[in-house]
Amino acid sequence: MNKINIAIDGPAAAGKSTIAKRVAEALRMVYVDTGAMYRAITLAHLNNQETSFKELVGQLELRLINDDGQRVLLNGEDITDRIRENDITENVSFVASQQEVREFLVQLQQLMTRDKGVVMDGRDIGTTVIPDAELKIYMIASVEERANRRLLDNAARGIVSTYDQLVADISERDHLDMTRDISPLSKAEDAIQIDTTGLTIDKVTERILALAEEKL
Ligand code: C5P
Repeated sequence: MNKINIAIDGPAAAGKSTIAKRVAEALRMVYVDTGAMYRAITLAHLNNQETSFKELVGQLELRLINDDGQRVLLNGEDITDRIRENDITENVSFVASQQEVREFLVQLQQLMTRDKGVVMDGRDIGTTVIPDAELKIYMIASVEERANRRLLDNAARGIVSTYDQLVADISERDHLDMTRDISPLSKAEDAIQIDTTGLTIDKVTERILALAEEKL
């Protein structure tokens, strides 16, 4: 069996993390949610706003633990739930547009994928982090469906939000992520696009597993 990397990119709340986690479990691969890494740096930035990004990333100790999903530790503290809160979501695209932040995280992500066996989701995985990934998926869904899914997700996490606010937030984040100067969100030429609007998690997972089987 070949060892492969799978890159899953796409706009906010398209279902990437849920699906990537399922695919990784089924194939016994390591799941990495890179959005959580940008969120972790956003938390560090909000707590140290006078520190430059260059200095900030130099001081960080970021650990990802695969444990029924992914837990995120920042300087020893478990921040997995904290980084889903609204203040982080509102500021993450700004932090993710900083060159020092991207250089730091892309290097780390490339190290994590060097020996293959990783399902990694994000915005620039197929284009920048692992352009040689054996399988690249670009996942999209209508903004209405994405807002509805995020509404349910947030409710389950105890985060207060409204549908209208989520439509606005998702659209704004997509715009910022697609128009930033450094590695903006875009579909890699060789990525397979899957529109998950109206599809169940099981259906999308099955489709990706079938595509992965061809490469294994
Ligand atoms: O995936 P998630 O919505 O948690 O990502 C949060 C933010 O992190 C995105 O809106 C984007 O600004 C940034 N991000 C990125 N590159 C990645 C993953 C996430 O710029 N590979």
